Amino acid sequence: MKPSRHLPILLAALVAGGTAAAEGISPQQMTDALHAVMAADRAVYTKLIVNRLQNEEKLIKASEHWKDDKALVLPAQMFRYGAEEVAKTNKSFSYSLLSTWPVNKQNAPRTPAEKEGLAFIEKNPTKAYYKTEDLGGKKFFTAVYADRAIAPACITCHNQHKDSPRTDFKIGDTMGGVVIRVPMN
Ligand code: HEC
Repeated sequence: MKPSRHLPILLAALVAGGTAAAEGISPQQMTDALHAVMAADRAVYTKLIVNRLQNEEKLIKASEHWKDDKALVLPAQMFRYGAEEVAKTNKSFSYSLLSTWPVNKQNAPRTPAEKEGLAFIEKNPTKAYYKTEDLGGKKFFTAVYADRAIAPACITCHNQHKDSPRTDFKIGDTMGGVVIRVPMN
């Protein structure tokens, strides 16, 4: 993008959003924006890399043992490695991918908000769940967003996986949820 050409638009947006910017953004605006980026990256990786190269072109598989198998990293691993990278340098939020039907038992919901949040988005996949949580004496703003089967690769892999507790996922189904936590002062 050429900054010179976009500068007037940027300035107009800043003026229009001036009040919001002066007051700061709410935790909900922050998690909504973070989730939009996470969901976009996850969809692009799944559709343009995994689904295209594995399911359509049949050139290379995705595998949780990607190093030994010389395979593509799974979408869920891509997501977790990203979350681990963020955690190294940024303490203002953390995130994870959980499910009521986890292939990896580590990805089952644990806190009451995680359980309630997953149950909520399973019933309301287009809405998000928000809650203030107390964990270990600290307050967090916790948001949960539906993670849906957006490509055939999602459902073929989970339905065939030996550790998957559920084998009837269809395109569009909510398969789990993205949990984003923001510590509150
Ligand atoms: C090639 C296989 C494969 C593909 C493709 C795949 N997954 Fe997974 N998925 C897995 C495995 C294996 C795990 C557990 C990984 C881990 O945590 O180590 C997992 C983890 C998850 C989790 C966390 C809960 C759990 O099951 O452990 C969710 C939610 C999820 N996947 C949804 C999806 C969605 C939605 C897509 C498509 C956008 C997708 N997956 C694509 C194999 C796959």
